[in-house]
Parts: sequence; structure tokens; C-alpha cells
Amino acid sequence: MHIRHHESVVLTARAGGELAGFAIMQFLDTSAHLDLLAVDPRYELLGIGRRLLEWLEGTAVTAGTFVITLEVRATNVGARWFYSRLGYREARRIAGYYCRVENAVQMVRDLRVI
Ligand SMILES: CC(C)(COP(=O)(O)OP(=O)(O)OC[C@H]1O[C@@H](n2cnc3c(N)ncnc32)[C@H](O)[C@@H]1OP(=O)(O)O)[C@@H](O)C(=O)NCCC(=O)NCCS
Repeated sequence: MHIRHHESVVLTARAGGELAGFAIMQFLDTSAHLDLLAVDPRYELLGIGRRLLEWLEGTAVTAGTFVITLEVRATNVGARWFYSRLGYREARRIAGYYCRVENAVQMVRDLRVI
């Protein structure tokens, strides 16, 4: 669905001929939303997640979009650290975001703010 959608970008990272990670970003009117980002556990902590997200952020800036939003499971402490390292701040908690059961934390980055 996202691959065909003209307002989405699906990005993959390869290592040694294998799929090592992927990310999907959707470009909305005034912001972009990171729908998914995942790195194969065998390739974690090698900078692949950072490179995927920074590439998408660069694309957003080129498109004149500076605000990036995403949701992450509240229990996913590792991912929350990762996004904090990349300049995202925790904006609000959304109760029951995942299947009306699990809470999310919405994280936001304004690319104009250094
Ligand atoms: C979260 C995830 C995308 C990180 O990707 P990665 O390629 O391992 O991250 P990087 O190597 O690019 O790390 C970038 C920075 O984040 C930090 N970081 C990454 N994972 C971290 C973790 N679990 N705990 C603390 N810090 C972490 C790195 O140390 C690095 O910090 P630095 O700026 O000091 O160098 C990856 O662990 C993953 O796919 N997890 C499972 C799926 C998931 O949770 N996706 C995100 C929610 S949708």
C-alpha cells in the first residue's frame, strides 16, 4: 500500500546483500509521520536506524516539511532512547493507541530547531 502511495516514502537499508532495515514515512500537509522503522536485530547499534531516519528527514526538508511525528510503544524504552538521541522530544502519551490496549508516546521533532 505505502509503496504505491505517492505521499509515502518506503526506504530500505541493505548490508551484505541482505535487508538490514526499513522505514516508512508519510508526508502530510504540514508535517510528516514516521509510520514504521525497524532494523534487523543482527544489525542493531551500527548506525543504520540513524541513517534511515536522517535520510527521511532530509527528504522532508527538501519538500518544505519540518515537523516529524511518530508514535512508539510506551514500554519500548530502547526506541524512546533512540529517538531522543536523534533529537525527538516526548510530546504526549496516548492511551490505548495500540489495539485499544497498549499506550503510546508521541514523539516530535521540529527540524528547524537545532
Ligand atoms: C530502535 C531501532 C530502530 C534503532 O536502530 P539502530 O540501527 O540499532 O540504532 P542506531 O545504531 O542508529 O543508534 C543511534 C543512536 O541511538 C542509540 N540507541 C539505539 N538503540 C538504543 C537502545 N535500545 N537503547 C539506548 N540507546 C539506543 C545508539 O546508541 C545511538 O546513540 P549515539 O547517538 O550515542 O551513537 C532498532 O533497535 C529497532 O529496529 N528496534 C525494534 C523496532 C522498533 O522498536 N522500532 C521503533 C519503534 S516504531
